Amino acid sequence: MTTASFPPGFLWGASTSAHQVEGNNVGSDFWQAENDGSWGLADRSGDACDSFHRWPEDLDLVRDLGLNAYRFSIEWARVVPAPGRPSPATLAHYRRIIEGCGERGLTPVVTLHHFTNPAWLTAEGGWTSKDAIAHFTEYVRAVLPVLDGVPWVCTINEPNMVAFMAASRKRGGGAPAAYLGPPDAEVTAALTRAHAAARDLLAAVPGLRSGWTVANQNVQDHGAGPDRTAEISYLIDDQYLDVAKGDDFVGVQAYSRLRAGERGPLLPGPDDRRTMTGWEYYPQALEDAVRHTDARLGGSTPLLVTENGIATGDDGERVAYTREAVAGLRRAMADGIDVRGYLHWSLLDNYEWGSWEPTFGLVAVDRTTFRRTVKPSARWFGRLARDPEATLATEAEVDPEATVDPEAKVDPEATVDAGTALDPDAGAGA
Ligand code: BGC
Repeated sequence: MTTASFPPGFLWGASTSAHQVEGNNVGSDFWQAENDGSWGLADRSGDACDSFHRWPEDLDLVRDLGLNAYRFSIEWARVVPAPGRPSPATLAHYRRIIEGCGERGLTPVVTLHHFTNPAWLTAEGGWTSKDAIAHFTEYVRAVLPVLDGVPWVCTINEPNMVAFMAASRKRGGGAPAAYLGPPDAEVTAALTRAHAAARDLLAAVPGLRSGWTVANQNVQDHGAGPDRTAEISYLIDDQYLDVAKGDDFVGVQAYSRLRAGERGPLLPGPDDRRTMTGWEYYPQALEDAVRHTDARLGGSTPLLVTENGIATGDDGERVAYTREAVAGLRRAMADGIDVRGYLHWSLLDNYEWGSWEPTFGLVAVDRTTFRRTVKPSARWFGRLARDPEATLATEAEVDPEATVDPEAKVDPEATVDAGTALDPDAGAGA
């Protein structure tokens, strides 16, 4: 049952990305850097969660939890293993996943670029290579037929993070950190052009909505003053939100906040409650990000929460964080902000860009057998999807000691709006 705050057809789902779950993404630049040590990453992705083979099991889990949407990404390095030579077999693989979503009543939300580039592109200079946009366009053109019936497509995941990471690598650092300094302007310009080119091609697919997702940093004035705060916010968030004006939707991704102090960013210290990634525990981030995004876009663009979650080994904390985040989302929606869905990051404990340590998953994965184990938070999230009002009104009853649930199966009766899977109007808030 849903209420006016969460309209019928609202998407409740979980997100993943290819490199973080598929395993053996050997043609990508990330794989290369993991294995040659050039970016100083602690861990390798290896087999990851073996979702390249186990995707049917993953989709079954999403359905059985009672969710109605699944976000995943298509891997450019697999689709175009060599420039100009797309792989029909790989395209057929991703088509099977999209159809697998439809068969299970899940709305697919597909991302075309989630951090990784083909290693051959990186060797050419990456996003700043003179042919980067032509290569990306060629990739998107190859993927178009596979996207038939897909209602939501994210062109580029977190262009601001991609530009941060590019800048950080130029300075010799590799792995993403809480605050990476100014994003690379040249890469930002290239990503903006790539997004526009993809959007034009995707417009030809009937019923498909396209947009990009922004990692909302939630810049707050903690001594910097309003002008400096606005400047920082423009640099790391708002210039990317401005690009989304006129898009079919914008993806909101929020985890924490950035406190702008008098002498620079105030990074979370020992006195702050922190998560496994070292970020400040700040569930209010989602409501802040949704309100900020909507205000920046002048209320003109529908929002989809494409990521929100917490890295924690305490599953009760995951429930508490998510409950508070979703309650904030509900408040923003009750004020009239048009949000079409909430996709939790992440379905699985996956490869966190250089480390296996932070666990964001609703479902644990054994790193040797790849057995999936549903956590109590996943079961709670399924209840939230089925009855948000009642679930938000009730204090979560999750045993913090019971971090994983040995019963892999959840409620098989539980499905939400199963008929809406490939319906482009599913989730329409208005
Ligand atoms: C990314 C995910 C990542 C998550 C947690 C987002 O920046 O899109 O790939 O795992 O945050 O760090």
